[in-house]
Order: sequence, then C-alpha cells, then structure tokens
Amino acid sequence: MDNETLTITDNRTKATYTIPIYRGTVRAMDLRQIKTGADDFGLMTYDPAFMNTASCTSAITYLDGDKGILRYRGYPIEQLAEHCTFLEVAWLLLEGELPTRDELENWNCEIMRHTMIHENLKKFMDGFHHDAHPMGVLISTVAALSTFYPDAKNLGDTKCRRKQIVRLISKMPTLAAYAYRHRLGLPYIYPDPDLGYTKNYMNMLWKRTEPKYAANPVLARALEVLFILHADHEQNCSTSAMRAVGSSNADPFATAAAALSALSGPLHGGANEEVLRMLDEIGTKDRIPAFIDQVKEGKRKLMGFGHRVYKNYDPRARIIKQVAEEVFEVTGRNHKIDIALELERIALSDEYFIKRKLYPNVDFYSGIIYQAMGFKPEQFTVLFGIPRTVGWLAQWQEMLRDPERKIARPRQIYTGEDRREFVPLTLRGVHDRELTFA
Ligand code: CMC
Repeated sequence: MDNETLTITDNRTKATYTIPIYRGTVRAMDLRQIKTGADDFGLMTYDPAFMNTASCTSAITYLDGDKGILRYRGYPIEQLAEHCTFLEVAWLLLEGELPTRDELENWNCEIMRHTMIHENLKKFMDGFHHDAHPMGVLISTVAALSTFYPDAKNLGDTKCRRKQIVRLISKMPTLAAYAYRHRLGLPYIYPDPDLGYTKNYMNMLWKRTEPKYAANPVLARALEVLFILHADHEQNCSTSAMRAVGSSNADPFATAAAALSALSGPLHGGANEEVLRMLDEIGTKDRIPAFIDQVKEGKRKLMGFGHRVYKNYDPRARIIKQVAEEVFEVTGRNHKIDIALELERIALSDEYFIKRKLYPNVDFYSGIIYQAMGFKPEQFTVLFGIPRTVGWLAQWQEMLRDPERKIARPRQIYTGEDRREFVPLTLRGVHDRELTFA
C-alpha cells in the first residue's frame, strides 16, 4: 500500500521525513536520519523494558493479549492441548508443521535415545548441598552440559546444531529429576525410553523398588498438557535472554542456562512457586479480603495475576483450571484451589484489578496441580523450564537463521557526569553525599 508510511516533522529543524510502516511498525534505524546537524548522532527511541519495541520477527507463536488468543504455528493452544503429545508440539514449534506419523515415531525414538546423562554429571550434581534450590541446580547443570559437548560451539553446522537441540530437550527431564532426587537423598533412576517423555520423567522422579514404573495415566496426561501450555510464549523475559545471549554465538547449553536464570525470577517463571506460598499464607477464605486490601495499598502483589501482554484471561489459565479438576479426581482435592477460586472471584470483581486489566496468568493455577501431584513448591519453576526449553530452542534456531541477525546490543541514554579531571586520593577529603553502593 502506498500510504503505509509515516511522515515526521522535526520541529527543531522544520525538516520532514517519510519512513515506511511495515506491519504496524516503524524501524528504529529509520529515525537515525533525523538530525539537527552533521555532528548529531540522529534520533533514537527510548523504551525501557521493551514496552513497545519488537526485537525480532518470528513465525513461531502468535499472541493477542487483548483477545486472550495463543497459537503455536497458527494452531490454537486449546486444540493442541486437547489432541497432541508434548513431543508432537515440540516438533511443531521447531519444524513449523505438525509431524506425520513416521516423523513423530522417529522423533520420539530420537529424543528418548538421548535421555541419559554422562555419569560425571551425576557427580557434579552430588556436589550441591542437600537443600540447594532445584532451579539453581538445573541452571548450573545445563551450563555444565556445554563442557560435555564441545561440538555444540559449531553453530554453523546445521546437523550439529540439531544434535544439540535433541540433546537438550532429551536431557532436561533427567537433570530435573536428578535435582529432585538429590534433594531427597534418593538414588538416581536411569531413564526408561519405553515410557515416553512425560511418563519417563515421572519414572525418574518417583520410581522406588518396583521393577517397572507405571505412571497414572490421568496424571501423566495432565503433565503432558501442562508441558504443552508452557512450551513457548513468544518474546518473554527468558526467551529474550535466549535470543540476546545466543546472538553472541554462545553455545546452546550456556545460552539455555541464561534463559533458565531469567525464568527463575519471581516475576516470571518463579511466580508459580510464589503463588503457593501466598495461598499458604492466606490460609483460609475469610482472610482473602484483608490480603486484597494489602495488594490495593501497594504493599503486596497478587502473584499469578497480571501479564505484560494479556489484558484478558490468559487462555492457558483457563485450560489449567479444567485440568486441575481431572487431577483432583485422582489425588483428592487440593483445598488451595478453593482459596484460589475465591481470590480470583473477588479480584475480578474489584475495581483495582478491573481498571488495570489484571487476570490470572498461567502460574496462578499450575502450582496447585503440581502440589496435588506431589511436587514441592521449589520444584514448580523447574516444571516450567523443561517444556519452555523447546520454545527457547525454536526461537534460538529462528534467530540463527534470520538474515537480519546481529549481536544484541541496545543503546543507552547517558545521564552521568560530563568529562572531569581525576582527583588524587590525598586531595579527596570527605564528602557528605549518600553512598549508593554500600
Ligand atoms: N498484583 C497487584 N498489582 C499488579 C499486579 C499484581 N500481580 N500486576 C500488575 N499490577 C499493577 C501494577 O502495580 C501497576 O499498577 P499502577 O498502574 O497503579 O502502577 C499496573 O498493575 C500495571 O502493572 P505493571 O507492573 O506496569 O505491568 P508489567 O507488564 O510491567 O508487569 C508482571 C507484568 C507479570 C511482571 C506483573 O503483572 C506482575 O508482577 N505479576 C505478578 C507476578 C506474576 O504472576 N508473574 C508471572 C507472569 S506470567 C508467566 C510468565 O511469563 O512467567
């Protein structure tokens, strides 16, 4: 369209510029030509926290936060959660198309073949203190994979790159399960490839002395659905970390460790753990109004509520709420769900939350299911990290293939001192300013 342009008048110089609009976006670099003179660097954009800046183009995940829509490669999340296995969705995210029957069979075999970890990695795991947080253990052991697979640095070789993707997706449940058992002082359980991705993970977590672990099919399916829902979510904090760190050509294991670190924060994947602690603290329904008052006074956050992009009900939270009921049929009801439902009801009818468009996000209900299944809150973010690894790798691969890719390197607006002369220590005397670093 000819009129897909933006005309800007610079009131400093009265000059006008016409720049193209592409898919509702202008290129920040097109603003550089807007200068007051030859020495002027040119206009920049300022956007802390990327509130209104697209950092890449991507064909993986579509999200409409106002309408509450989430699609992987065009397929609605609701349909994928109902009909797919997690590895089927992993293939979809990485390849762009749903696998054929043969492709899926080979993919399942390929992933399950790589689930073992090097014995030395187990020794590394043993070095952690018994109460080490599992996310810290996972971040460190994923980074350590980089030392076991030096070929991972060979980013230009697409076959080799694919091998690392398979390795990481395969080994995540093993590392996560070993971190879990280390905490409990239980012997590590070797992967059982016959069981498939999710049931094998449950096997490595919970097998005791029985010759073959038999996972409860309802719980296994619930975990599968939760994995599908968490597999990707476009340019969130950890995915942006994956792309930014990966843009330096760091190997995928070091890069994924950075993404896991981003995920561990309580404002991101760590929120599911915080939700449970919050529900524990509230304890009974009658204490909800007092808690909500504290939130409205700005003293607390309602964890598991709010989202940078969703300004409507998070479609993942809706599915998780249904899955919770199926899980409770097996495990018995986790009474925290009743506190959570009441918290949601009160919050969604309160002006504070309505005005700010704050709805439950994926983390609000997931922890309640995980707890009913027997996980401790400190495991919850690990359960987010296993499936999200697929999304990170799909986005990393897309980034490496992008002809426009360059090392991530934002600009800044310098607000510090202008040039000043060095003062020798003997002449510095005393100053009365408040220390900012202490
Ligand atoms: N409880 C109370 N008030 C909130 C909350 C909340 N959970 N979230 C946002 N607000 C308020 C916030 O104080 C602000 O109010 P005001 O306009 O008066 O200053 C307004 O809503 C806008 O919030 P914001 O902090 O500017 O929004 P953001 O996009 O920067 O932050 C968020 C998004 C997810 C970090 C934030 O909503 C939050 O901290 N939520 C709780 C943590 C959480 O559940 N995180 C999981 C996110 S979903 C899964 C994932 O991707 O990891």
